[in-house]
Amino acid sequence: MKIGILKESKTNEMRVAIVPSTVSALSKKGYEFFVESDSGLDANYSNDDYQNAGAKVVDKNQIFDCNIICKVNSPSNEEISSFKNGTLFISLLQTIKEIECVKGLVNQKVSAFSLNLLPRTTLAQKMDVLSSQANIAGYKAVLIGANHIGKYMPLLMTAAGTISPARTLVIGAGVAGLQAIATAKRLGSQVEAFDVRPEVKEQVESLGAKFVEVDSDSDDGVGSGGYASETSDDYKAKQQELMKERVGKSDIVITTALIPNKPAPMLIPKDMVETMSPGSVIMDLAAENGGNCELTAPNNLVNHGGVLIDGNANIPSTMAFHSSQLFSKNIEAIIDHCHSEDGFKLDKEDEIIDGMLFLENGVVRHQPTKEAM
Ligand code: NAI
Repeated sequence: MKIGILKESKTNEMRVAIVPSTVSALSKKGYEFFVESDSGLDANYSNDDYQNAGAKVVDKNQIFDCNIICKVNSPSNEEISSFKNGTLFISLLQTIKEIECVKGLVNQKVSAFSLNLLPRTTLAQKMDVLSSQANIAGYKAVLIGANHIGKYMPLLMTAAGTISPARTLVIGAGVAGLQAIATAKRLGSQVEAFDVRPEVKEQVESLGAKFVEVDSDSDDGVGSGGYASETSDDYKAKQQELMKERVGKSDIVITTALIPNKPAPMLIPKDMVETMSPGSVIMDLAAENGGNCELTAPNNLVNHGGVLIDGNANIPSTMAFHSSQLFSKNIEAIIDHCHSEDGFKLDKEDEIIDGMLFLENGVVRHQPTKEAM
């Protein structure tokens, strides 16, 4: 079974889908690796590193002879037209948002996994690219935010006077939010966090942060499977009141609020940004899905009256060595999951494979994608 690694083509993408340690691990199980030349260079994995691990470094056109092709992002039009019948393509492709790309893959009669569709079960944790990358985004957002503000993060008592700690507010305490809380605490900041799901209160407090709660006696905002759902208008009004007070006092606001299959909820309108002091910053990790702040411009740094709104939509790429390593480990676990004594097999009875396999030999299997087409 041949596995191909394509070089990323998206602007500012530094990651690579598979790193040399995965090549070594899966080669022992009989897989052969073909890597497009310089695929890992931006993440500091050289062609030599891949060769030493047992992969062949080849020209792009040879990658399309592989049985499985891996890439972080969706394929370019040129790549799609080179895919062969029956190839399995693995990437982060967002099937509902990228319909034209799905149509192209249908025409080429390929099979495809979307890593975005992995069921979030205990067994699937080691395959969960969304979690491994969100963890990095949460960590790095704090470092970037701390770098933006002209302030210390910790309380400092110096001969020249006492410095108060910076105040960090984290909105959305899922995977990225919890890592942001932990990182901001480690740097000595005072941290508060908010989430619509009351069950995260304990997790927030165990990290030493204060949980800001909206008074609500219902399950407003609590969705299924540990996710959030859209909140009622009454809840939204109460949340806005509370947020206005907390946001205005913060030096760094990190927003991570997402609702599956919906645009990100708009939680910080322009007038709320205007309550913040010049020099403070909003790191909007929901930028790719529309943003949690009204002023967010994806992949841009907006300066609104001295308040910065950072809409970097690909923070994991800024830590490409480790984000690629973890991404690669997740794919290794997926391939391992499909591997048995008889080799690689797509068992559609398996919940994990059934969830991710949105396309089989050109036939769309994922109902919401079918409807979107
Ligand atoms: P996410 O990226 O979908 O959302 C981030 C956070 O935003 C969530 O905590 C959500 O409750 C919150 N949020 C949504 N709307 C909001 C609003 N209006 N105001 C404030 N906060 C809002 O979620 P993520 O980080 O992917 O994880 C969600 C859940 O899934 C967590 O409970 C996590 O523990 C669980 N999970 C389970 C996994 C597994 O078992 N394999 C793997 C990863 C996560």
